[in-house]
Amino acid sequence: MRALLRVLPWLLFACASEPKAPVAPTPPAAPAAPVAAVAPAAPAAPAAPAAPLEGAKPEINADFRKPDMDVASWVQRFEGESREIAAARDAIAAELELKPGESVADIGAGTGLFEEPFARAVGAQGTVYAVDISPAFLEHLRQRTKEAGWSQVKVVACDDHDTKLPPASVNAAFICDTYHHFEHPADTLASLRRAMKPGGRLVVVDFEREPGQSRDWVLEHVRCGKQQVRAEIEQAGFRFTREAALPGLTENYVLEFAAPR
Ligand SMILES: C[S@@+](CC[C@H](N)C(=O)[O-])C[C@H]1O[C@@H](n2cnc3c(N)ncnc32)[C@H](O)[C@@H]1O
Repeated sequence: MRALLRVLPWLLFACASEPKAPVAPTPPAAPAAPVAAVAPAAPAAPAAPAAPLEGAKPEINADFRKPDMDVASWVQRFEGESREIAAARDAIAAELELKPGESVADIGAGTGLFEEPFARAVGAQGTVYAVDISPAFLEHLRQRTKEAGWSQVKVVACDDHDTKLPPASVNAAFICDTYHHFEHPADTLASLRRAMKPGGRLVVVDFEREPGQSRDWVLEHVRCGKQQVRAEIEQAGFRFTREAALPGLTENYVLEFAAPR
């Protein structure tokens, strides 16, 4: 008995220090299912080439192209107070926010209705490009510029694809009742975009054309309405900025855009 008592502590100690049952090893994580390889995107079907923009029919400019055109009758027509554009001329010109020393291009300058307010706004240090395709209007513009002594006005003979303006030369461009005369609007707009300084302003005035509302003459003469004009100009890379509502304009809208910076 005495011998048993002597070994008992040792037995208890030995039991207490039994190695614990080994913890079942965590089974190795099942290998992650292979991530399904992302199939390379099927090559996009080549975009159908955009339909070339249909411009105005050449007949619309036939009279303007005649070298012996009666300019005086057009001066009456374009500059008489009965034309809402002429009556609102100064308010329209102010939309360009011209500053002294800037350059502005009047695309389709016609008889030169806007040259005076533009020349005044940019001052002697600025430049007004009076751009047109009509030989008779160009000659008239040269005469008018000389007689008025506007040293800042430069008359530019363009063609129906190209404004012929120097690259990055204008802070602002103006297209008044002329957009619907463009026979190749995409080309003309591309050349205008090249001529714009970064962020330059573009103001377009043209006839509202609403089937069922507009006069028959407008429906026949003007090829498309405001939404289409805006879409074409945006397509050419200009950003639409706003439509201005000017007092006195009931038949014409005013859309404003910015060239990319
Ligand atoms: C209806 S008149 C407007 C004239 C002037 N902007 C005004 O409002 O009094 C249209 C003018 O655009 C000109 N024009 C036609 N196609 C043009 C083009 N692709 N580039 C520049 N001028 C053009 C015509 O010769 C004409 O002088």
